[in-house]
Amino acid sequence: MLYVEILGSLPGMARDEVKAMLELGGGKIVDQDYLFLRVDAGEDAFPFLDRLGLAHEYGKLVVEADSIGELLEKARGVEWPIKGTFKVDTETMANCGHDVLDLPRKLGAVIHAQGFRVNLSKPDTIVRVYCGERLYAGIRLRFFDPKDFESRKAHHRPFFRPISLHPRISRALVNLTKARNEILDPFVGAGGILMEAGLIGLKVYGVDIKPEMVEGAETNLRHYGIENYELKIGDATRLKELFPEKRFEAIATDPPYGTSATLAGRRRDELYRKALRSMYNVLKDGGRLAIAFPADFDGEAEGQKAGFRPVGKYYQRVHKSLDRWFYVFEKV
Ligand SMILES: C[S@@+](CC[C@H](N)C(=O)[O-])C[C@H]1O[C@@H](n2cnc3c(N)ncnc32)[C@H](O)[C@@H]1O
Repeated sequence: MLYVEILGSLPGMARDEVKAMLELGGGKIVDQDYLFLRVDAGEDAFPFLDRLGLAHEYGKLVVEADSIGELLEKARGVEWPIKGTFKVDTETMANCGHDVLDLPRKLGAVIHAQGFRVNLSKPDTIVRVYCGERLYAGIRLRFFDPKDFESRKAHHRPFFRPISLHPRISRALVNLTKARNEILDPFVGAGGILMEAGLIGLKVYGVDIKPEMVEGAETNLRHYGIENYELKIGDATRLKELFPEKRFEAIATDPPYGTSATLAGRRRDELYRKALRSMYNVLKDGGRLAIAFPADFDGEAEGQKAGFRPVGKYYQRVHKSLDRWFYVFEKV
């Protein structure tokens, strides 16, 4: 059994991102306790879980219990799969219903009694304890360092435009499409979504109506070491003309919201409707589209009108004057 700790900012989207990765890697979410997901999956799922954007970490679940006494008793009865030294680290979630103040010390003593040495400053292994409605203890296998995503935020890129999604959200959009090999972003902008897709090994295709954006996206992709890309100057509402033979496995995109000159003179809602139809036409059957729309546009209804089946939607309030929905659609 594995666990995944998801981030609290977009929990529904984070959970579905894990679900999508498990559908690719084999496995399923069996339980959720606030931000803690209990996951039934084997090692084959690791390369897909390694792609996650909206997760804090994942690991191997070792014991779970309804009380501290039970947790400690179970902990005495298992062989802890620890390499080198260890440290117990407790995550007290907002729904924690147990007094865990003394738990790291007590659990540390149980594990120490099995012959493992504690190292609080530089442990080789982190034993994670989660307190929610129940209690869980496991071994951290992968921590998603926020610094890694932060280093790709818009202002760190050589080509800067203040219009990009947070890299973690871009990564999640890519994952929600369940792309295995390739992805298209027809409103590529500075290339933020394609950077995240390229870094997990997908071939990336991008389109933008502005030549300087295509050039900028290329600069950014190359800066982050992504070489398997194809970028075109063109119109997202006429994708079939740009790619006459090609049908894409997946599309993830963040169209302009109409707050600046990025609409290139079009009426916003009409641009969205035409782009939805255009994307539908170049997507493979069963392929997925992940897309953001401002909240005053009924993306779900318009996606259905274009022929898509909605498979997920997630709300995000960005600031006072911008709230949006992320949608995931499937071509049926
Ligand atoms: C919000 S930005 C995309 C941001 C991008 N997802 C990122 O993370 O960097 C929208 C982009 O759509 C482009 N655009 C506007 N109308 C377009 C159209 N009809 N076809 C293609 N691109 C268009 C704009 O030039 C702009 O670069």
